[in-house]
Amino acid sequence: MANIVAIGIQWGDEGKGKIVDLLAPEMDVVARFQGGPNAGHTLVIGGEKTVLHLVPSGILHEGVLCLIGNGTVVTPSTIAEEMDALLAAGVPVAERLRISDRCHLILPWHRALDAAREAARGKARIGTTGRGIGPAYEDKTARRGIRLIDLLADDLDARIGEQLDWTNFLLREYFHAPEVSRAEVDAELAIARERLLPLMADVSQLLHERHEAGAAMLFEGAQGVMLDVDFGTYPFVTSSNTVSGAALAGLGVGPAMIDEVLGICKAYTTRVGAGPFPTELYNADGMEDPAGRHLAEKGSEFGATTGRPRRTGWFDAVVVRHAVRVAGVTGLAVTKLDVLDGLPEVKLCVAYERDGERLTHIPADARALDACRPVYETLPGWSESTYGVTDPARLPANARALLARIEEVCGCPVRMLSTGPDRGHICRFPG
Ligand code: IMP
Repeated sequence: MANIVAIGIQWGDEGKGKIVDLLAPEMDVVARFQGGPNAGHTLVIGGEKTVLHLVPSGILHEGVLCLIGNGTVVTPSTIAEEMDALLAAGVPVAERLRISDRCHLILPWHRALDAAREAARGKARIGTTGRGIGPAYEDKTARRGIRLIDLLADDLDARIGEQLDWTNFLLREYFHAPEVSRAEVDAELAIARERLLPLMADVSQLLHERHEAGAAMLFEGAQGVMLDVDFGTYPFVTSSNTVSGAALAGLGVGPAMIDEVLGICKAYTTRVGAGPFPTELYNADGMEDPAGRHLAEKGSEFGATTGRPRRTGWFDAVVVRHAVRVAGVTGLAVTKLDVLDGLPEVKLCVAYERDGERLTHIPADARALDACRPVYETLPGWSESTYGVTDPARLPANARALLARIEEVCGCPVRMLSTGPDRGHICRFPG
């Protein structure tokens, strides 16, 4: 059985949760390798809607070991809340979940710094999720972060005191923002001790043992390639690598352990937060295009973590081609095709134009990307419903033509097609 890395290849929110949910029953292990509670996936558990930010969505499946790898940053209270919701629905979460001893903790000062920095940026803000992701990764890279294993260290108290003094100095003197209290930090650490330490494990070791025993593994990415700290629209990105390569460093496995890279993308494009978006048609700040509004409304485009309305636009093949290259994507999973139903025509951005020059790749400078205008190919739409279609032969000819063109322009075969929100609303195209 193949080991698969499943990643988003646009600006996040591509529908990874559904694809992971669909593949999870075929897997023995599902592991998260980067990001933190900035991600969000809505599950219906026991009739109640629950948003999981950190616990892998494979948790609902018996016999699937769910792992949170060292490359992630975790908020102890968020994991505890998710565990409570799962326990209340009868999911034996403690049996199925393990958390890397090397995971870095997001503590209250990280959220305070995230908020203070965004406020100070004013109009130039990134539009972060406010979950403290950037400051936690900063501390990790600066070698002063607090990891799960550090809860057992003798010098923890002194390190917390030093970090808190330093952060409060910054908050008070530079940002003129409220300070963080030691009591708040201690409360978060107490939750970590009580709820996370019992689940602590050497995740790399577990993965290698399972691999040797022949397990099938799914490595679940968060956000998307265009939010990658190196290959995304820097600085309007998240603070981790989101490409498939991040699975290696974020879990402690080698490249030979990966057989396939599934790149998940919508049949159109969305983005939350600020930053360039060449095919943008519609946003909450007044950009109004009827097709963009159709995508926002029919696609229910609101962020699972923040509830913010998403910006919407046409499918950008330059973006997807870039992601296919930098992340070594071997197959596409195209989601939300049904949202395009009823549009008289559908556009595909195949290149950009800037200062009279045609570009077929993503420029490294976000300002240069902002100045790019999309070059579109226009394809006829379809009036038939594709909602819930599972047999590719039942797709309208124009929808099939769009998929064929996506494969051609992006240089990657479509392996899965999602036609609705339910797990069963899927067409599979085996290789
Ligand atoms: P941060 O990850 O909270 O620092 O936010 C940085 C940027 O990434 C912002 O534009 C966020 O909106 C975006 N972002 C972070 N996580 C997600 C996600 O799971 N889906 C979509 N966008 C995200």
